[in-house]
Amino acid sequence: MKVLVIGSGGREHALVWKLAQSTKVRKIFCAPGNAGISTIAECINIKPDNIEDLLTFAKYEAVDLTVIGPELPLTLGIVDAFEKERLRIFGPNRRASQIEGSKAFAKELMRRYGVPTAEFRVFSSIREAEEYIRLKGAPIVVKADGLAAGKGVIVANTVDDAINTLRLIMKERVFGEAGNRVVIEEHLQGEEASFMVFTDGKTILPMASSQDHKRLYDNDEGPNTGGMGAYSPAPVVTRRLEKKIMNNIMAPVIRGLRSEGINYKGVLYAGLMISDGEPIVLEFNARFGDPEIQPVIVKMKSDIVPVLESVVEERLSEVDIEWDTRAAVCVVMASEGYPGKYRKGDIIEGLSESIKLDNVIVFHAGTEIKDGEFVTAGGRVLGVTSLGMGIKTAIENTYKAVSKIKWEGVHYRKDIGRKGLRIKD
Ligand code: AMP
Ligand code: GLY
Repeated sequence: MKVLVIGSGGREHALVWKLAQSTKVRKIFCAPGNAGISTIAECINIKPDNIEDLLTFAKYEAVDLTVIGPELPLTLGIVDAFEKERLRIFGPNRRASQIEGSKAFAKELMRRYGVPTAEFRVFSSIREAEEYIRLKGAPIVVKADGLAAGKGVIVANTVDDAINTLRLIMKERVFGEAGNRVVIEEHLQGEEASFMVFTDGKTILPMASSQDHKRLYDNDEGPNTGGMGAYSPAPVVTRRLEKKIMNNIMAPVIRGLRSEGINYKGVLYAGLMISDGEPIVLEFNARFGDPEIQPVIVKMKSDIVPVLESVVEERLSEVDIEWDTRAAVCVVMASEGYPGKYRKGDIIEGLSESIKLDNVIVFHAGTEIKDGEFVTAGGRVLGVTSLGMGIKTAIENTYKAVSKIKWEGVHYRKDIGRKGLRIKD
C-alpha cells in the first residue's frame, strides 16, 4: 500500500521509520518531511495546513492511508475533507480534535464527565479574568484557549505576572484568535507524565507510558520548550495508576464524546500531573506527542499498519499490540538559541558513527541536506533514541550516541531519564 505522512519533525520521522518496516507498505510519501525522512520516503513540498493540495495529491497518487502528525491540520478539518472523498486517514476529525484545539472545550468536557483536572474557569472578558486572578492569588496558570504552538500556557508565580500574561493574550493578541478566551486554572504540583492511547471511539488501546522533559536546561530549569527528551516507560505510571488513567480519564472522555455525537478516532494524548498517586489531566492532545513518540515507537514490536487501519475502520477490538520490555530514551539535540531565535545551517558531524552503534536510531527534526551534507535547519534538530535493558542502560546507550554528534552551538540536556531512576522499574 501507499502511505502519506503529514508533518516534518522527529515525530514524523519516527512514524515513517516504523511504517517502512511494515511488509504491507510499498511506498511512503511525507509532506513536507525533512532530510532524515528523505532517506526512507519521498518528500513532497506541501505544507501541513494546505489541505486542498494534500487532498489533490492523495487522490492523484491513490494513497491508501494518510497519517497526520501535527495538530493544526486536524483542527482545520483535514480528516473531514479526506473522509468526504472516501480516502482513508488516521486522526480525529475537526470536532473531535477540539479536545486539543480549545482548552475551554477540553476543560468543560472533563467537568461534564467527572475527569480529574485542575479547578478552572473560562473567560472571554479580560476584566472578569483579572478579578478572578486577584481573588485566587498566585501561583496560578493562565492558558490561551486556542492553539499557540505550545507557547500558550503560562505558570505565573505572582498575581502581576498572571495579569501581564492575560493582557498579552487578550489585549495585545500575541497568539491572535487563540486568545479570544482564556482558561485560568489552579496550579498543581507533582510529577508530569504522558499517556497516549489508540482509539476507534469504542476500544481504547494504551501505548507504553512516557515522560517528556519540557524545560530547556537540566533539573527542569529554564524556559519551556516543545520537549528536550523523553523516555519510556515512565516508572511513575505504575500498573495501578495506568488502570486509573484508563478507567477514570480515557474511558469517560471517549464515551462522553461519543454520547455527544463525536466519534474520536486516532491517538488521544493526556498530559498528566501525578499528584499524591492520583493522575490529574493538564491537557489533551489529539495526536502523538513529540518527542514522546520516539522512545514509545521503538518499543512497539507489532506492525503499526494493522493498528492504524483498524482505528480507521473502527475494529480496534480485533488488534493487540506487543511492546518491547526494554526501556527507551530519546535525547533531543537542539540549535543554539532554541526555543528563541536559533542558529541554522551548521554542518552536523558524526551522524554516521552514531547510527553504527547497536539499537540506536537517530530521528531527524529540523535538518536539511546542503551540498551533500546534513545541516541544521530548525530549533529541535535530532532525537537520538536508544533501547536498553532498564532505563539506566538505555540512558548510557543514548548518551554514547549523542557524544558522537557535534555541530556549532549544539545544546542538549544531560539528565534525560534521570527521574526514571529514582523509582524502581
Ligand atoms: P499544557 O500545554 O497545558 O500541558 O501546559 C504546558 C506545561 O505547563 C505543562 O507541561 C506543565 O508543566 C505546565 N502546566 C500546565 N497546567 C498546569 C497546572 N494546572 N499546574 C501546574 N503546571 C501546569
Ligand atoms: N511533548 C509534548 C507534546 O507533544 O505536546
